[in-house]
Amino acid sequence: MTETVNVSGSLRRRLTLTLIGGAAVLAVVLFAVVRLYAAQIAQQGQDSILSASVTSMLDAAVLRDGAVVVDFPYAALSMLSTTSDDRVFYAILQDQTLLSGYKHLSPPNGSFPTTGTFMAETPDGALIRVASDSRTLVGADTRTVITVFVAQTQEALQVTLNDISRRVALFGAGFFCLSALLSFWASASTITPIRRLTSSIARRGPQDLSPVASPVPSEMVSLVESLNRLMGRLDKALSQSEEFIAEAAHRVRTPLATVRSHAEAMLHRVDRDENRKALRAMVRAIDESSRAAGQLLDHAMITFRTDHLEREELNLTDLLQELVQRLTPVAEMKDISLLVENTEPVLVSADAILLQNAIRNLIDNALKYSPMESEITIRVSASPTPTIEIWDQGAGFPPDQIANLSSRFSRGDNAKGIIGSGLGLAIAQDVAEAHGGALKLSNLPGGGACVTFSL
Ligand SMILES: Nc1ncnc2c1ncn2[C@@H]1O[C@H](COP(=O)(O)OP(=O)(O)O)[C@@H](O)[C@H]1O
Ligand SMILES: [Mg+2]
Repeated sequence: MTETVNVSGSLRRRLTLTLIGGAAVLAVVLFAVVRLYAAQIAQQGQDSILSASVTSMLDAAVLRDGAVVVDFPYAALSMLSTTSDDRVFYAILQDQTLLSGYKHLSPPNGSFPTTGTFMAETPDGALIRVASDSRTLVGADTRTVITVFVAQTQEALQVTLNDISRRVALFGAGFFCLSALLSFWASASTITPIRRLTSSIARRGPQDLSPVASPVPSEMVSLVESLNRLMGRLDKALSQSEEFIAEAAHRVRTPLATVRSHAEAMLHRVDRDENRKALRAMVRAIDESSRAAGQLLDHAMITFRTDHLEREELNLTDLLQELVQRLTPVAEMKDISLLVENTEPVLVSADAILLQNAIRNLIDNALKYSPMESEITIRVSASPTPTIEIWDQGAGFPPDQIANLSSRFSRGDNAKGIIGSGLGLAIAQDVAEAHGGALKLSNLPGGGACVTFSL
């Protein structure tokens, strides 16, 4: 029975994508912030050289005989030289009229006096950074204001900034890749406890309804608690129903035995053929019912015991020989000989009562479905796993039903007229599986059924 489960995406993928998305946003923000900061610092560097140049030119301005003389040192402009051959402009104004230099330099809004730095454009469209300052010269009878502009194009600055951007972009990409790797790792390790729980539940045998004991993260505690409660309820319900079946079977068996003995006694007393026939049918029906009740009891006992295996060291060959001895009278009634092929000890750690029950059912089947005067061969082997093979000279399993014969209450077409309840193979299979083994049914090429019971 497999119910389809509605799947809504994958936790692991969602976690990975969220982490990677976060890392991408962080990488972009990092890039923008570092670039902005670098641009500011580079601009500050250019501004301070421009201002130094302005100051040294202003310092060189003097009044000589009422006229302004600015004899500024060569260094005032050469300090601005860059590797990118940036163009440098200057203008010296006396009371807002150009005294010397480049005529297109003026304050940003055209109003004097002006100090500080600002951006401007040359007539040919080049972007320039301008620094300016003013100074008042006082002579004997004159008073005049000198304004100096020094400007520079921004090519070296752009080169530096592009270089920094490239490096930061590389750094950001590296950061992103590393974060992506960490995201995969983080989501995988977050998912691990869920995986562990899933596999520990999936690995369980069908009978195992014990609570989950392995430690789980706190977020999963309530889920696991609910699961444990559910399994506890299921376990209780199951064992209650098994107990009920066992009790019911037991209660039916005893009165059946009484009825049977009365019917048998009656059979000896009546003479009329039709009455005898009816009584025989009755005895047979009673046998069938009491056998079914016995099998139900066995099955309930086995279901209970497979949960609590009482393992002990035992010799499989001894156990088999004992069973064969006990079943020989039944076999003799049909002139069937039971042969055990191996007398070497095969040691196993198993539940003796369960094994006896399972194997008895298998030999019982072989006896029931074999013709008179035939042979049943039983082989015990120790490797690769302890295995018992039982084959007979009957008609074999009905090939089209072979896959289902081990289910509870399933009987083959060849079972018509033969007493049975369809639980024997189910019991044997449960016992094999409880010991970690399996039950395999096959037909021999020359006819006859072969049952392989392994532990
Ligand atoms: N040795 C065998 N040879 C042929 N058929 C068999 C043999 N053992 C079992 N079967 C088939 O498998 C069915 C299921 O077996 P089992 O579970 O023991 O139930 P039951 O013996 O009560 O019918 C039987 O009804 C029969 O059809
Ligand atoms: Mg049977």
